[in-house]
Amino acid sequence: MPVCVAETSGTEVLRPHAEHAFAAELAALAAQDDRPRPDRWKLSPWAVATYLLGGTLPDGTLVTPKYVGPRRIVEVAVSTLATDRALLLLGLPGTAKTWVSEHLAAAVSGDSTLLVQGTAGTPEEAIRYGWNYAQLLAHGPGRDALVPSPVMRAMAEGMTARVEELTRIPADVQDTLITVLSEKTLPIPELGQEVQAVPGFNLIATANDRDRGVNDLSSALRRRFNTVVLPLPESAEAEVDIVTRRVDQIGRSLDLPSLPDGTEEIRRVVTVFRELRDGLTSDGRTKVKSPSGTLSTAEAISVVTGGLALSAHFGDGVLRPGDVAAGVLGAVVRDPGNDRVVWQEYLETVVRERDGWGDFYRACREVSA
Ligand SMILES: Nc1ncnc2c1ncn2[C@@H]1O[C@H](COP(=O)(O)OP(=O)(O)OP(=O)(O)O)[C@@H](O)[C@H]1O
Ligand SMILES: [Mg+2]
Repeated sequence: MPVCVAETSGTEVLRPHAEHAFAAELAALAAQDDRPRPDRWKLSPWAVATYLLGGTLPDGTLVTPKYVGPRRIVEVAVSTLATDRALLLLGLPGTAKTWVSEHLAAAVSGDSTLLVQGTAGTPEEAIRYGWNYAQLLAHGPGRDALVPSPVMRAMAEGMTARVEELTRIPADVQDTLITVLSEKTLPIPELGQEVQAVPGFNLIATANDRDRGVNDLSSALRRRFNTVVLPLPESAEAEVDIVTRRVDQIGRSLDLPSLPDGTEEIRRVVTVFRELRDGLTSDGRTKVKSPSGTLSTAEAISVVTGGLALSAHFGDGVLRPGDVAAGVLGAVVRDPGNDRVVWQEYLETVVRERDGWGDFYRACREVSA
């Protein structure tokens, strides 16, 4: 099997893979994990769940939470991976499907890079195998000329493969996965051979709720998956917590200032997003219209990170209402006609009246004008 060596190995990269970014936590977990591990798993299911949800290890090592949400969801996801059924993470945009899938693969197999990105143009070769034409012409068909897909490598090595945005892949290409998931084999008819999966192999797919209907999963394929739905954060506190953690992590990797006084702005962005998403103010008194955008947690994270960059480079390093206002406007007003009306109405009826929100109101008025 060819080994892919990242060209960047040894140098600093913008976004390290989960298994590198959290290598110390994973190593501490592995050292202190005495529970049984399924074949070729780097950690026991219990330790994988602890890696995702966070906790303190017996020796005092702190494991940071990666996923903030119901424990049961993570437990079901992890235990599915220890069975012969694959895992489908389903949810609205920005509910951490990709994030959870990456961390699961990193914790279970120590490698989150066996990834197929699903698009309308994903060919069968991306899931099965391709050919190196120079080798093919020089030496004829043989295993040397075969270019294995990430799924094929995961099967041969007993690892976790990932398929992103499964429902964007054309239906006939999706169905390539049926044999892989039910027979655990990938035939190579050109060579009269096959690759059989070894223990440890499993697959995590993600799919977006909003895309339902683009290329629905066939029922044959759906039966091969256990579906876990990732919910939106249940409370404003949980969402503020998620945004604060992620902005802090992203900010550190970009050398942005830390967030000591910025949490007020985070709370405001999260409140605005939640109210517009729910169509109701947080006190439950006023109905508001929802704009067309998704206003997900992921977008709140980008708005705050963008604000932090503004304040670092063009402000005084402290996150202020003026730094997030433009980002909020950009996230809310996706379609200039209707969304702008929705936003103006929300601004005048809700934001304007709220105690302590004067600066934010003025900053929003300024960018909306
Ligand atoms: N419950 C959560 N716990 C931790 N992080 C979260 C949570 N919800 C969202 N995030 C953060 O949101 C960001 C975006 O998540 P991600 O890209 O995984 O979303 P997604 O569900 O794959 O969205 P899409 O459908 O657009 O692909 C990540 O940085 C992730 O950390
Ligand atoms: Mg995703």
